[in-house]
Parts: sequence; structure tokens; C-alpha cells
Amino acid sequence: MRCGIIGRTLAHSISPVFQNAAFEALGIDARYERWETEPEGLADLVASLRDPDALGANVTVPYKEDVAALVDALQGDAALTGAVNTIVRRGEQIEGHNTDVVGFQRALAGVLGDAPAGRCVVVGAGGAARGVVLALSRCGAKEIAVVNRTIERAIALCDDLARAAGIALMPLPLDEVGRALQAAQVVVNATSVGMAHGPDDGRSPIDGALLRPGMLVCDIVANPVETPLLRAAAKAGARTLGGLPMLVEQGAASFELWTGREAPRSVMYDAAERAMAGA
Ligand code: ATR
Repeated sequence: MRCGIIGRTLAHSISPVFQNAAFEALGIDARYERWETEPEGLADLVASLRDPDALGANVTVPYKEDVAALVDALQGDAALTGAVNTIVRRGEQIEGHNTDVVGFQRALAGVLGDAPAGRCVVVGAGGAARGVVLALSRCGAKEIAVVNRTIERAIALCDDLARAAGIALMPLPLDEVGRALQAAQVVVNATSVGMAHGPDDGRSPIDGALLRPGMLVCDIVANPVETPLLRAAAKAGARTLGGLPMLVEQGAASFELWTGREAPRSVMYDAAERAMAGA
């Protein structure tokens, strides 16, 4: 059986490493591949997942929202967010799922325990940010400021998710992030700023001077393990959560949808951590 990750540039994705380790650990005859495509090839690639040898796929930047229009049905959190990070073949149908939400929830719970997330700030308003906002709302967020370079996208996110989140969502332009951070307990970077090998490699989306002890600063960027934002947060005395736990947890949830088996999480964490140490 075949399975893979769909995105535009995947040379540095470590999903194949920990997914193949999981297939091997459970003796499942499947391979997880890198399926890079330009936008023109996306529809054909997604349609090919209806073939009987396909288990499904993960979807990453920049196609999570485009793929929502290409599957036969949207399930659960994919329907709520309009973003698909997981495709599952069921017979001749392909379903869109979103395991980023539960992935971030589990990663956050690993740090917060049962403590509520409280007042939150999310930077970014793309597909990843949609998942993060929904996850925070389920982890006891009281209100969430959604800060984005393009304010229209932040407004659309807040309008679309207000009902599902069930708490106040406030759109703000990026230059007002300082004001939003004054009362924040949890801050999340849900942009690609700081991602290794990307256009904003080496940059932080938030000025380190705005971070304080007592905050929990999270980055969904998993590579590098310590992003410029997390380095600034540690220097400011804040607690930090890197992107690796979310990456492995969303992958574990995808694995369970494809195989119907419990994901071997410790195998997946070990493989991911080893891959990052060697990156
Ligand atoms: P994803 O599916 O990973 O969320 P996306 O939909 O392309 O990907 O969204 C990327 C997010 O990162 C957006 O919020 C984007 O801001 P814009 O909506 O203004 O484009 C944000 N982003 C990317 N590069 C950025 C930069 N250099 N500075 C600030 N925000 C940036």
C-alpha cells in the first residue's frame, strides 16, 4: 500500500521518517513517500488516491485549504476549519480530515496539563492557524486574539470559527501584537516565519521584548527545533513548546485513521527526534 505527504517543497519533511518507522514497527506493508507538486498537478495527485493501492495522504503547506475542495467529503474538524491535513481512502471515496487540531491539543495538554489556556494570541490566519484556534478553544481558552499581516484573513478566520470555538475571537493587524500580548497567557506562532530553508528562515514573527515570564510561547514550526521565537521566549523567561510534539501527534492520529491500529507513538517520537538531531 502507498501513502505520502502532499506539499510544494518537501525535501526537509521528516514525516516519511516517523511514519515509515511506525509501519515497520507494526509490520504493515506500506510505504510513506514525498509527493511534491506544483498547484497545476494537485487535483490529479489527489484524485489518484482513489486507486485501490492508496491508503491516503497528509497535506501540508500550501495546500490544506485547496484540498478541502478536492475530496468527496469533509469529516469532523476538517469541516469545521475548512482545512485538510489528512486524506483517507474509504472504498472509492476519499475523505478529508484534520488531525492538526487534535495534534496541537495533545501537545498543549502535555505542557498545560489540566490548566486552562486562558487568554491566547495566535499569530497567523492560514490553514494551520485555523486548527490552532479550534484546539485552543478546546483547551480552556477564554478568548483568542488572531493577529495577521493580512487583516482580512484574520477577520475571515474569526467569522468562520466563532461558532465552533464558542469563545470571543478578535482579529488584529500584526502591528497591534504588542497590545494583544499584554494580557496573554499562551502565544502561538502559526505562521511559517522561522522555518528552516524557507523565505523567513532565522526570523521571529514576534519581537522578543514583548515576551514575559509566565507566558507559554508555542511554535508550530518544527524545524529547527529551537526557532528564533522559542530562543527569544527562553531568554525572556517564558515557558516554551516547540513544533515537534504537534507534528508527531497529528501524524499519529493520521496513522490511526489510515490503518485502524493504535499508533506506536514512542517509536514515532524516537524516529522524529533522531531525524531532527541529524538534520
Ligand atoms: P498554512 O496552511 O501553513 O497556514 P498559509 O495558508 O500559506 O499556510 O498561511 C501562512 C500564514 O503565515 C499566513 O497567516 C501568513 O500571513 P498572510 O495571511 O498575511 O500572508 C503568514 N506569514 C507568512 N509569511 C509571513 C511573514 N513574513 N510575516 C508575517 N506573516 C507571514
